[in-house]
Amino acid sequence: MNTQDLLQQLTSANLGRLKENGLYRKFVAIQHDRVNFPVGIHIDSGKPAIDFASSDYLGLSVSDVTVEAAISAVQNNGVGSGGSHNLGGRYPELEELEILLANQHSKGGALLFNSGYAANIGILGSLSLLFKGKNPIFFSDEWNHRSIIEPLRSQEKRIYSHNDIKDLEAKLAEANHTKPDSPKIIVFEGLYSMDGSVPNIKAIADLAKKYGAIIIDDEVHAVGMYGKNACGICEEQGVLADIDIIVGGFGKAHGSTGGYVVGTRELVDYTRSFCPEFIFTSSSNHPTISASLAATKYLMTNPPERQQHKENVARLKRLFEENGVPFADFSGHIIPVMIGDAETAKDIASDMLEKHGVFVRAAFFPSVPAGQARLRIIPNARHTEEHLQQLASGLREVLIEYGIIQIGQAMINELEKQGNIPQEERKPDAVHR
Ligand SMILES: Cc1ncc(COP(=O)(O)O)c(C=O)c1O
Repeated sequence: MNTQDLLQQLTSANLGRLKENGLYRKFVAIQHDRVNFPVGIHIDSGKPAIDFASSDYLGLSVSDVTVEAAISAVQNNGVGSGGSHNLGGRYPELEELEILLANQHSKGGALLFNSGYAANIGILGSLSLLFKGKNPIFFSDEWNHRSIIEPLRSQEKRIYSHNDIKDLEAKLAEANHTKPDSPKIIVFEGLYSMDGSVPNIKAIADLAKKYGAIIIDDEVHAVGMYGKNACGICEEQGVLADIDIIVGGFGKAHGSTGGYVVGTRELVDYTRSFCPEFIFTSSSNHPTISASLAATKYLMTNPPERQQHKENVARLKRLFEENGVPFADFSGHIIPVMIGDAETAKDIASDMLEKHGVFVRAAFFPSVPAGQARLRIIPNARHTEEHLQQLASGLREVLIEYGIIQIGQAMINELEKQGNIPQEERKPDAVHR
């Protein structure tokens, strides 16, 4: 068979399998405008849709703070950066933002990436290279994001059960015993994106000290939102100084796009010269960086949107309780409504949009373990009481229709009995194969 035919055959077969398993992805286009955000227009139907899917938690993507900064950057400097940081794409605002981030997090240096995804791939790859030949071992939470899973594929690693300090310690102790000289790197998230759960970072930091490990904390979903200086959950828990490397991003609370790494001055200097994800790509453009810079400064002032967002999260959880909507409450600001089956979760999300004018997204394998599909509900600082009520009452109606209220609750009871989400390891290798 020639390669073109094989290409056609394999793509069809893989897509067919995805569809059979209910895992095929359909995108939903929502157009936002600055005035009505977070109510957008669902393009297919032309109807308004209250957005409960966006990670623009504080609505900064449409605020004067970011928009004016971006407009003025375009007017003054144009759009494209012109190249990589090394080859002509370095302009003063990039420098200013890196210095600001290093100061914000009280670390020696910061390095900008074009996304949070690239930042994780870049820093984990750079550490693997740095420790090459010394048999490094990575200790990675089982729920870590794909951008952490991918760069560790060919590295020696121990996957510890989600937020399970005892399991992490057992794995560190075993490695310390069998491979005492191996560098040890613990990597986790400050706030997990699929359920809003939060680790005990102090306990992880204590283990790191005890076993001579270093810590990488992905705070992409929490920077800007928590801590006096907006550094995330680690700062909120009072352990910012114990974290060796923080990965942050501008695509959520900042309402912009991009990622960064902060750490020691030497580590940043090393990464700058050895990290392909940083070196071989054009730097972010002027409007994006100016918006990120303005948002970072603004978020460091602990603006009122943060408090409003907390109130909306608490209010929505109360409304869910009152309406019998089964959600797993892991204390964070992302609220999972457990469904189980992927196809059903997608159907419910469609019904919410069509019948109730509410845009929610279903998360399913491989984003979450198979059989644990959920609606991933994200309150926004700009939601009104009416928006929150429309979601809660609409969900109640649809979940009753699908018979999910009971099923979801049973699943949550089971999770809570175990003290956590089941410790089934993700199987990223099985994805799309
Ligand atoms: C925990 C975590 N890290 C990193 C990323 C990637 O960030 P970005 O969207 O900026 O690429 C995400 C994406 O949502 C995430 O959830």
